Amino acid sequence: MARFTLPRDLYHGKGALEALKTFEGKRAVICVGGGSMKKFGFLDRAIAYLKEAGMEVSLIEGIEPDPSVETVMRGAAEMQKFQPDWIIAMGGGSPIDAAKAMWIKYEYPDVTFEDMCKVFGLPKLRTKAHFCAISSTSGTATEVTAFSIITDYQKGIKYPIADFEITPDVAIVDPDLAETMPKKLVAHTGMDAMTHSIEAYVSTAHCDYTDPLALHAIKMIQQDLVDSYNGDMQKRDSMHNAQCLAGMAFSNALLGIVHSMAHKTGAAFADYGAHIIHGAANAMYLPKVIAFNAKNPEAAARYAEIADFMQLGGKSVEEKVRLLIDCLRGMNDALNIPHCIAHYGADSYPTESGFVPEKVFLERLPEIAKNALLDACTGSNPRQPSQEEMEKLLKCCYYDTEVDF
Ligand SMILES: NC(=O)c1ccc[n+]([C@@H]2O[C@H](COP(=O)([O-])OP(=O)(O)OC[C@H]3O[C@@H](n4cnc5c(N)ncnc54)[C@H](O)[C@@H]3O)[C@@H](O)[C@H]2O)c1
Ligand SMILES: [Zn+2]
Repeated sequence: MARFTLPRDLYHGKGALEALKTFEGKRAVICVGGGSMKKFGFLDRAIAYLKEAGMEVSLIEGIEPDPSVETVMRGAAEMQKFQPDWIIAMGGGSPIDAAKAMWIKYEYPDVTFEDMCKVFGLPKLRTKAHFCAISSTSGTATEVTAFSIITDYQKGIKYPIADFEITPDVAIVDPDLAETMPKKLVAHTGMDAMTHSIEAYVSTAHCDYTDPLALHAIKMIQQDLVDSYNGDMQKRDSMHNAQCLAGMAFSNALLGIVHSMAHKTGAAFADYGAHIIHGAANAMYLPKVIAFNAKNPEAAARYAEIADFMQLGGKSVEEKVRLLIDCLRGMNDALNIPHCIAHYGADSYPTESGFVPEKVFLERLPEIAKNALLDACTGSNPRQPSQEEMEKLLKCCYYDTEVDF
């Protein structure tokens, strides 16, 4: 038996934020990030709508990008005091993911972070609060997914929490919120969404319910992302839907090792002054992983189907896979994303000499590869790499060399 779970309600289209007016409850806590929602007036609007619905409103502000375990625990303690019956998470993937984990701790104060990370092992939520997610970036689709990514900075590792219990009750997909994104965020989150849809389509857990969502998302992202990056606001709006469709697909079909590698490299070099931003990591690793997975004939056939759906041409399966890889690399160029870690600057732009020194990368490689293999996303990848293969693959992602194994 397989399960397909999505939020009960999804409000979409310009102005959909107004749906908050219709919510029923006594106390709502709004969780936001560093200030973009406040700056652009969306936070004030959300507060006003909830008050109009007769609710008392409290705020948890300042949730940092790539939120930490400590932030989760702090927020849960605030929820414990305020006792909300609605948790409204608003912003990018970071504040929404942090709010999901706070929700678990709020409902079950004795649960530890380790407990939360047991895949599909959460107790029943919604005994205290319901959850609404309002996304302001067009990538993670956490407003519809069963995942939350929290970083343990002591270990330098991102841990996915995965359980349909944390699939939000309500998602609000209002493109107005995405229109204020700076270009770099458009590029990174957009390629994150492309990776979600491609990994979902070739995942071992894909099914008839997830395939059409993944394919349609891929086509929309192919058509809209670069124009959105270059300032076309209609395409920006369309990307907000595309990333959400991708999320519906991968929340149910799961992901693959592009994400395993991104999770385990993202914060691994934080002591060198920067992160490898999630979407940029995916954008760099995706073409390499496609080449690796395509050694499995079934996966190769699925990539060829994607290439056909994108109308990339090509006669043989091999040629179609090659054209898909070329197309994705071309998108990276158009979006100013480097092709490999060696050329990944501290500002995320391509540079001659990236912020991760070769020597440090090679020293940490065995540990990163081991952690990537253990990541929750590895199990549904169409080809299972060995430790040696994962190390080789990560090296290709460092140096931008051909994957021939
Ligand atoms: N839960 C999931 O299913 C899932 C999937 C993929 C990634 N993730 C995680 O999500 C996180 C990344 O989320 P993200 O890419 O959405 O970015 P983010 O939430 O980390 O935000 C990045 C920056 O953009 C700003 N910002 C957000 N929206 C804005 C807007 N509309 N206008 C202007 N500025 C805005 C934020 O203030 C922040 O400084 C990572 O931790 C990643 O691992 C989660
Ligand atoms: Zn992702």
